[in-house]
Amino acid sequence: MTAQSESDITNTFVPQRLDTRAPLNELLGRRWSPRAFSEREIEPAKILTLFEAARWSPSSANEQPWHFIAATKEDTRINNALFESLTEGNRRWARRAPMLVLGVAQSVYSKSGRAYHHAWYDLGQSVANLTVQASALGLAVHQMGGFDAGKVRELLSIPEGYEPVVVFAVGYAERPETLPDDLRRREEEPRSRKPLETMVFTEGWGKASRLVDAHNSVINDPRSKN
Ligand SMILES: Cc1cc2nc3c(=O)[nH]c(=O)nc-3n(C[C@H](O)[C@H](O)[C@H](O)COP(=O)(O)O)c2cc1C
Repeated sequence: MTAQSESDITNTFVPQRLDTRAPLNELLGRRWSPRAFSEREIEPAKILTLFEAARWSPSSANEQPWHFIAATKEDTRINNALFESLTEGNRRWARRAPMLVLGVAQSVYSKSGRAYHHAWYDLGQSVANLTVQASALGLAVHQMGGFDAGKVRELLSIPEGYEPVVVFAVGYAERPETLPDDLRRREEEPRSRKPLETMVFTEGWGKASRLVDAHNSVINDPRSKN
């Protein structure tokens, strides 16, 4: 790792400690979805690494149903089309991000033509891998369901059989001072998650599993080494 990459990671703005019951891998602990992006361009080698991470994700029957339309500010027409497809709320902050990407899922298996029910799952997993890789490079990803799929299909001529699923912004996170006041306040709100007991069951639906019993609580600082 170069000295620049190391300092990109150390300088990444991460808003707060996560309240976790067990130590998390540092890359996961540092991941979050910022709205405040620096206008700094992303190095081409890092962009390549992000998509390699997506490419090496697992998928049903190794079908790899994910496709990406990626546009930096240099790709003005495509970047504008992706930006125009966003909801107004997302447009308020996503402009500064140096790269926008549309994630598209293939709707049927290529060999059998059967409906590909896990395509969105597989696309999501590839974006998750890309997101963790982004953390490792000092970058941040903010995914958005708030966009007009019909509009983006038309603007970017996406063929039938492929579904626009998500747009995500990628770049270097920065302190929220560049945001309008209301967004800055939201950016500074504590991040939260539902308790593990509400999502992990063993003995029956809705019954908290002993496997996530609270007896083992520790607080982990994502910025410290695990
Ligand atoms: C599929 C998906 C759609 C999302 N859509 C939006 C969106 O339209 N606008 C937005 O600001 N954030 C969006 N988010 C970001 C979530 O709000 C965010 O992940 C969640 O609040 C947890 O925060 P964290 O990622 O910082 O941990 C989306 C995230 C995912 C995975």
